[in-house]
Amino acid sequence: MPDVSRRAPLAAAPALAPLPPEALAKLSLVGEMTLAMSQATTAAEIYPQALAAIARVAETPRASVLLFDPDGVLRFKAWQGISDGYRAAVEGHTPWAPGQPAPDPIHIPDVARDTSLGRYQPIILGEGIRALGFFPLVTGGGTIGKFMVYWDRPHTPAPLEFQLVRNIAAHTSFALDRQRLVDELQAERRLFIGGPTVLFQWARTEGWPVDYVSPNVTAQFGWRPEDLVGRRMPFADLIHPEDLPRVVDEIRSHHAAGQGTFEQEYRIRDAEGQWHWVSDFTVLPPKDGSVAHSIGYLVDITERKAAAAALQGAESRLREAQRLESLGVLAGGIAHDFNNLLMGMLGNAALALNDLPVASPTAETVKDIETAARRAADLTRQLLAYSGKGQFVVQPLDLSALVEESGQLLRTVISKRATMQARLAAGLPAVEGDATQLRQVAMNLLTNASDALGDQPGVIGLETALVHADRVTLTGMLLGDALPEGDYVALSVHDTGSGMDEETLGRIFDPFFTTKFHGRGLGLAAVLGIVRGHRGAIQVESWPGQGTRVRILLPATTRPVAVEAPPRPSGPARVADAGTVLVVDDEEIVRNVTRRTLERAGYTVLLAEHGLQALALLEERHAEVSLVLLDLTMPELGGEETFRRIHAAWPGLPVILSSGFTADQGTARLTSAGLADFIQKPYQPAALLEAARAAIQRAAG
Ligand SMILES: Nc1ncnc2c1ncn2[C@@H]1O[C@H](COP(=O)(O)OP(=O)(O)OP(=O)(O)O)[C@@H](O)[C@H]1O
Ligand SMILES: [Mg+2]
Repeated sequence: MPDVSRRAPLAAAPALAPLPPEALAKLSLVGEMTLAMSQATTAAEIYPQALAAIARVAETPRASVLLFDPDGVLRFKAWQGISDGYRAAVEGHTPWAPGQPAPDPIHIPDVARDTSLGRYQPIILGEGIRALGFFPLVTGGGTIGKFMVYWDRPHTPAPLEFQLVRNIAAHTSFALDRQRLVDELQAERRLFIGGPTVLFQWARTEGWPVDYVSPNVTAQFGWRPEDLVGRRMPFADLIHPEDLPRVVDEIRSHHAAGQGTFEQEYRIRDAEGQWHWVSDFTVLPPKDGSVAHSIGYLVDITERKAAAAALQGAESRLREAQRLESLGVLAGGIAHDFNNLLMGMLGNAALALNDLPVASPTAETVKDIETAARRAADLTRQLLAYSGKGQFVVQPLDLSALVEESGQLLRTVISKRATMQARLAAGLPAVEGDATQLRQVAMNLLTNASDALGDQPGVIGLETALVHADRVTLTGMLLGDALPEGDYVALSVHDTGSGMDEETLGRIFDPFFTTKFHGRGLGLAAVLGIVRGHRGAIQVESWPGQGTRVRILLPATTRPVAVEAPPRPSGPARVADAGTVLVVDDEEIVRNVTRRTLERAGYTVLLAEHGLQALALLEERHAEVSLVLLDLTMPELGGEETFRRIHAAWPGLPVILSSGFTADQGTARLTSAGLADFIQKPYQPAALLEAARAAIQRAAG
């Protein structure tokens, strides 16, 4: 390739003589063109101006603009008076390298006589070009391209003409460069504005007036920049009043420590008054005071925060569930063993009392043993409830009727100065539950309400209602998260008593948390366990000094309310106490005390240690057996399966199931499958005898 750059540059222009009118006209034209170029907003607007100016100045209509593309190849960007074929043939040729610092222009006065053009000479001549001018387009970064001027005659430009073309080249370079910068800046700005990061620049004076805020503040937070900039809305006014002191402190301490950047999280207000959590990457001004503003890069992290909180909530609920689960296993285990032991204590105490003369001083002692054992039995019952176990007989129940009953019972227990206001809805759908446990719930809540009143007069309210619980309602309640929306029967107990502060309220469900002198702290723990076992939700609201409201939701069922078994005949109808009872229990203490109780009442007693033994015994002697008393939790063959087999083989033989603990919910519907009765351990001898008598009487028809 011929190296035209080696040619000698044109001699420097001689000093200008006074200008002829023609030259003045050209000069003013260049002035106009450069003005127009400086006002151009795209590169495409610059080229025609430049080409038109050159055409006038160099007195040739033929010229072109070529620029280096990013790949380093010089390509035509605009032209006039040259053909497509010519451009294709010469494109890519360059006397200068991209970025070369300010090369001199090159002039070829007669192409026909210039051998240095080599293989380009015939192409140029073929286009009808006889003279050429190369004018570099140069910016601060070096050569970016060139102007080509073509004459169709041999030609050497006059000094003025030469100067003016150079001038136009310089202006064009400048305009193109400026345009490139603007384009780049705008592209950067677009990148930035399309993103989530809002940039704030605020002055380090009182309240932090906003000097600049990026326009995406509108998309992110609803503000228009003009709402904020200047003194309109200082940056400090956007920050949540609870967070502002912390932000001020952070900025102050980082500034004092000379730390230029740091991150902080706080809340800012959007144009509609909603709060958003933002993460702010703050850039502080240098300590030397040379800069008076701080810059914050803010990203909205509200959703991230909410997700993290939800996750944390889920984790703590899971931990709570695991804690409850293991405590439940423990409580259930204790309850089971204790109930058998308590059976022995209660039963034997009752038998001993029977034997002792009423006036005996020992009778008092034995009564104390009995009272202590009964208290212990209450405790295990609460523990069992807390464990979520102990739904022995689950059936559709009318909650209003059940609560009414407990209310009646409790009226004797609650404070004399309390006014009971019961609003129990009639005709509610049934809830599936264990009546004993639900009574326990009502009892525990009413006792707490009464305790809260103390000796002050006040009101205890008791309400039932049908509610349709939506997601929001359920989520607002304890245990509600996992429940489906739908119909629930609500039980609400409120009082106008002492109420609780936040701290107490946070701990009320903890087993053994109590603020009472004689409290055991098991009441609400048991309520929670029972509600959980019944797939319900609970909510406690309290206002210190004003009172407390406990609300429980239990899922409504479409099944009709179970008809209560006819009341057991009571009173001294002892005539029927005869017959043979088979007692099946794996606990020796229980077998012994039960046998003694039954034998004293006049029954004959057979004993079996487990289900298989019981079945074997019945095979031979079922004709003489009038009742089976069966423990639910036994090794070998469990009570439930044993019951099923007995019922299948001898349907007329009544079976009473007893238990102090159940490991699963399987026992639920035994009643409807022909069970004569269920008694919960530890039971009093009198209760056992009553149940036995009733079952045998019913079986006899
Ligand atoms: N209605 C209420 N008003 C005010 N405080 C209450 C109310 N219900 C419960 N509390 C508070 O919650 C604590 C725990 O109640 P919980 O029923 O579990 O135990 P307790 O009543 O102290 O003892 P327990 O019920 O085992 O005899 C109470 O000691 C009391 O501080
Ligand atoms: Mg209580």
